[in-house]
Amino acid sequence: NNSVARMKNVKMIELGRHRITPWYFSPYPEELCPVDCIYLCEFCLKYCKSSLCLGRHLTKCTLKHPPGNEIYRKDAISFFEIDGRQNKVYAQNLCLLAKLFLDHKMVDFDTDPFLFYVMTEFDLRGFHIVGYFSKEKISVEDYNLACLLTLPPYQRKGYGRLIIEFSYELSKYEGKTGTPEKPLSDLGLLSYRSFWAQAILEQLINQNQSAVEGVRPSTTINDICEQTAIKKDDVIYTLKRLNLVTYCRGQHIVCINQNAIEQHRTAMEKCKIRVDPACLQWSPKD
Ligand code: COA
Ligand code: NA
Repeated sequence: NNSVARMKNVKMIELGRHRITPWYFSPYPEELCPVDCIYLCEFCLKYCKSSLCLGRHLTKCTLKHPPGNEIYRKDAISFFEIDGRQNKVYAQNLCLLAKLFLDHKMVDFDTDPFLFYVMTEFDLRGFHIVGYFSKEKISVEDYNLACLLTLPPYQRKGYGRLIIEFSYELSKYEGKTGTPEKPLSDLGLLSYRSFWAQAILEQLINQNQSAVEGVRPSTTINDICEQTAIKKDDVIYTLKRLNLVTYCRGQHIVCINQNAIEQHRTAMEKCKIRVDPACLQWSPKD
């Protein structure tokens, strides 16, 4: 029975210095679920049924960061790229962990078609996982993100925004626009709406500033797509939501207003961490 199978099954996880209460079902092995807490190695994400078992593992596990290549580092924040085929066990363990906080996704144990981008925060004990996103190696639908997670202890601090910004930064390097896989969760949609609005307004304001005084800046929707790597549908959706577009003689006309500029300024003041493109060392493989 599906509804029984999907009932929350894990009471608690321990991950590094965090104890986290899961939100949803995740298909960890059944014999693990009756225990009060599942202990994870915070670096390789292996799961154990007791702290003793984890202790034994930690004497052997030498990882102090996720596997794969570190492709971005700025201050304490890094991103690691992990190939779901080369690091299958890690990728599966990451999916199991993520499923604890995702209601509407299935855990796909075939991780081969995906790349995983894990964001970490560094201290003297190592690179600690904060969140991640996954991405299909090849997407015919222009998806540039499949799953997205900020671990609960780190939520509401702007990391989700940073992960989304990073996913579009990769799309810029690939020279194409992208969009997240649907359906988005409620929190996912809120985060995307907020990011799209910021990215598009930033683009519009920059264009306006560089325009000659008195001359109407003629930013087109295609300009915005090109500059932000946000897919056209999402750009139009956002412009409509912000009342920044009118439809005239079969054409969308983008028009910025003072109110939107003010709101954008306020939103960006809260936004402390940004992706610095100069810190990305990556080229798309194809
Ligand atoms: N309530 C209201 N708004 C929220 C919210 C919440 N609990 N969480 C995020 N938002 C919105 C806000 O608009 C926020 O902007 P603000 O700080 O200006 O209000 C914006 O999203 C981004 O917030 P941020 O702090 O960058 O996001 P986060 O690090 O908390 O991560 C998710 C957001 C979606 C990644 C995180 O909630 C998560 O991992 N959820 C579980 C998994 C999931 O649903 N993933 C998406 C699958 S498509
Ligand atoms: Na993109």
